[in-house]
Amino acid sequence: MAKVVVITSGKGGVGKTTSCASIGTALAMQGFRTVLIDFDVGLRNLDLVMGCERRVVYDLINVLSGEAKLSQALIKDKRLDGLYMLPASQTRDKDALTLEGVEEIINELKEDFDYILCDSPAGIERGALLAMYFAEEAVIVTNPEVSSVRDSDRIIGLLDSKTRMAEQGQAVPSRLLITRYNPERVEQSEMMSVKDIEEILAIPLVGVVPESEAVLKASNQGIPVVHDQESDAGQAYSDMTARFLGEERDMRFAEIEKKGFFSRMFGGRR
Ligand SMILES: Nc1ncnc2c1ncn2[C@@H]1O[C@H](COP(=O)(O)OP(=O)(O)OP(=O)(O)O)[C@@H](O)[C@H]1O
Ligand SMILES: [Mg+2]
Repeated sequence: MAKVVVITSGKGGVGKTTSCASIGTALAMQGFRTVLIDFDVGLRNLDLVMGCERRVVYDLINVLSGEAKLSQALIKDKRLDGLYMLPASQTRDKDALTLEGVEEIINELKEDFDYILCDSPAGIERGALLAMYFAEEAVIVTNPEVSSVRDSDRIIGLLDSKTRMAEQGQAVPSRLLITRYNPERVEQSEMMSVKDIEEILAIPLVGVVPESEAVLKASNQGIPVVHDQESDAGQAYSDMTARFLGEERDMRFAEIEKKGFFSRMFGGRR
């Protein structure tokens, strides 16, 4: 029976889709059957980041409106067994997106998968509420800036009130994923620190992903950055997923890397 996890943030452009693709990939690498659902109807980005945009035939809206079966719309990842995605529609027709329809899809997927990751659209309106409604766990993606932290705070409030678990009197376990983190800029007081964000949001930290050129490069190639284990962001997503699964790992990338003796003497890559 799958666990439903929403990747959400409130604010747009903070790295939800990037994170969803890499967490899903990392879970599948660990052998978990994982399906990613793109709830961003109208924009549709997850298929690009996963590199399967050319294989999209049917989408979430087609399934919801009965034009296609779920099995016809699911796209199997070309790199990993046990990883699938359900793309969003690029049409603006969001009327078919109903709670009952989404529930049916999630129930069907639950039979077959270990994890269902819901990539939420930005905002705090219908699409975002639908993406979170059936969540049994949440990853709150936050950038180290005031507006992102404030929106994450609002989303945490909604998880506590507008989800099925909340209606049943339970809290959705939520964890904080800080992305696009730049310790140098934190040091210069241009960005909020991990500690500041943790204090304000008061949910457990599951990972810190640095601002990294590797992310853009990977998404342009349609390869989730976690496949690039040479990169800082790729390693950060591996660590994060391991923590998500209960492992303890050092929080790398949260502080300015202190150069060791040899690299100070001879230079070297940071
Ligand atoms: N760690 C990172 N380092 C550098 N760039 C990043 C990082 N994470 C995400 N980005 C870039 O930020 C942009 C937004 O990322 P992404 O699409 O994942 O955000 P989103 O929260 O899903 O956006 P939306 O709210 O529009 O759905 C992309 O161009 C992505 O490549
Ligand atoms: Mg997105």
